Amino acid sequence: MSAPPTSEFDGVVVAVTGAAQGIGRSVAEAFADQGAHVAVIDVNLAAAEATAAELEGRGGRVIAVQCDVARQDSVQSAVDQVTEKLGAIEVLVSNAGITRPAMIRKMTLEEWNEVIDVHLNASFYWLKAVVEPMIAAGGGRIIFTSSSTAQNGSVGQVNYAAAKSGILGLMRSAAKELGRYNILVNAVAPAAVTDMTRKVLTDPKFGADPAKTILGRWAQPDEIAPAYLFLAGRGAGFITGQVVSVDGGSMMVR
Ligand SMILES: NC(=O)c1ccc[n+]([C@@H]2O[C@H](COP(=O)([O-])OP(=O)(O)OC[C@H]3O[C@@H](n4cnc5c(N)ncnc54)[C@H](O)[C@@H]3O)[C@@H](O)[C@H]2O)c1
Repeated sequence: MSAPPTSEFDGVVVAVTGAAQGIGRSVAEAFADQGAHVAVIDVNLAAAEATAAELEGRGGRVIAVQCDVARQDSVQSAVDQVTEKLGAIEVLVSNAGITRPAMIRKMTLEEWNEVIDVHLNASFYWLKAVVEPMIAAGGGRIIFTSSSTAQNGSVGQVNYAAAKSGILGLMRSAAKELGRYNILVNAVAPAAVTDMTRKVLTDPKFGADPAKTILGRWAQPDEIAPAYLFLAGRGAGFITGQVVSVDGGSMMVR
């Protein structure tokens, strides 16, 4: 009898932030199905534990780690816990996110800071925390999560658009700086129906029109996950500093 096929992700240590639900959960599931050891990292520990329990037994080990990505000490503590329980992080998927939409005239400084903290500052905290171990290990993959909002802008979302644009600048600069260490840094710009977007995408009063994607529909989170797998895999070994839009072509239709 021939040996069962092995995956290139067998035993690879993957950390996914915001993995309790939505796109992050689908990404964690996709890596778990490929035999990776996966850290389901989220501010919501109960939800992260429930997700980790569902993914346990798919392939490698799966653990839940509580972390508020908006706090540098919490990010460092999460990296320490993952390293202790699974080993050094080889693939980081920075995905946790929130929205705090409001028109400029009504947006509070708190709403601005909260979104910048959870997206942009968090991306820097994660970068800082994983770079030294990745250099020591001889390389790694870092995949950030941006948005088409970074390029298009969005009414009522100056905070979110600024954070997601900032992530692209950070990603490109990190790619240039870290290439010499065999650390590849990229971003995915997704569009899918999740708790974050359900209201805006499905309530006609917000005017979201599936026809604004070339494919004429919105995606489900599990249609986004393969892009993260690709960017983490051997096939993407010569790709760095790029943003992959998984948005049904909506960027082209607007
Ligand atoms: N859904 C889309 O269409 C879309 C489009 C563009 C970009 N994105 C981005 O994709 C990512 C995932 O979004 P989603 O749609 O799956 O959202 P979601 O709301 O379904 O999931 C977000 C997850 O992040 C976690 N989280 C929030 N704040 C956190 C914090 N401070 N620390 C740790 N975890 C935290 C939440 O608990 C949740 O599990 C986000 O970065 C989002 O901005 C989503």
